[in-house]
Amino acid sequence: MLTSAQLDRYRNDGFLVLEGFAGPESYGALRERAEQIVDEFEPDSHRSIFTTHEQTRVSDDEFLASGGRITCFFEEEAFAPDGSLAVPKAQSINKIGHAMHDLDPVFQRFSYTPDLAAVAEDLGLSDALALQSMYIFKQPSIGGEVGCHQDATFLYTDPVTVTGFWFALEDATLENGCLWAAPGGHRGPLRSVFKRAVAGGTEFEQLDPTPMPVAPEDLEPLPVPAGTMVVLDGRLPHWSGANRSPHSRHAYSLHCIAAAAEYPSWNWLQRPDDMPLRRLADVAAGATA
Ligand code: FE2
Repeated sequence: MLTSAQLDRYRNDGFLVLEGFAGPESYGALRERAEQIVDEFEPDSHRSIFTTHEQTRVSDDEFLASGGRITCFFEEEAFAPDGSLAVPKAQSINKIGHAMHDLDPVFQRFSYTPDLAAVAEDLGLSDALALQSMYIFKQPSIGGEVGCHQDATFLYTDPVTVTGFWFALEDATLENGCLWAAPGGHRGPLRSVFKRAVAGGTEFEQLDPTPMPVAPEDLEPLPVPAGTMVVLDGRLPHWSGANRSPHSRHAYSLHCIAAAAEYPSWNWLQRPDDMPLRRLADVAAGATA
């Protein structure tokens, strides 16, 4: 799938932009399905707010159980001071996560494709397991910032193998909160890991004091048209700003790890025992057989 020039660029920069990877029909189906999931979602009993800011991360039971579920998480700014929704429900959801790729047929079809399995193989992930999926809304006006981070902090394996496949389902622009990345930053150390705390909840453990790049000054913006796939090395620092524009910026991301790597039991994201991870290439081959 990838040319040697693309592979070189990925190894050099820690990310790779592949425009036109997904066709309008396939990403349109994902958008439609996400809309249905939100429509069927009953907000009153599910007020899990998602934020990547350390101090305010809500680490409730639902978040910790979401590795094996389909859960809707609210935007921080979706609520009025009295706790009522300040915007219509359809515009209040930050993301859906984290197991749609294994629980929903539409997401499964989009995630397990021979093309994606081939890209993963080209990157050295011939034994890629599909670990985690997220549908990110980046809602108009209230879509929150995602602080500068390395994906391996949240999806650690030994050795680090997590690779992000990020799909723009709408045009991502400077105005609506496109991705920003630190070219070459994947060669830096992994700064921290996000763990299940022994006493319950979660905690960050610092591994290396090297400061993260300052966003957005030290980063390069990646505005891309809908249908683009951006591949992200698990150590690459990346960021996206708040969306204050009147346009949403829907994206889907799938994170894969190598089957040969060790997945620690202290990672925040754990799958139920009866829901083992599946190989990208195997399911993709089955899906097209
Ligand atoms: Fe990320």
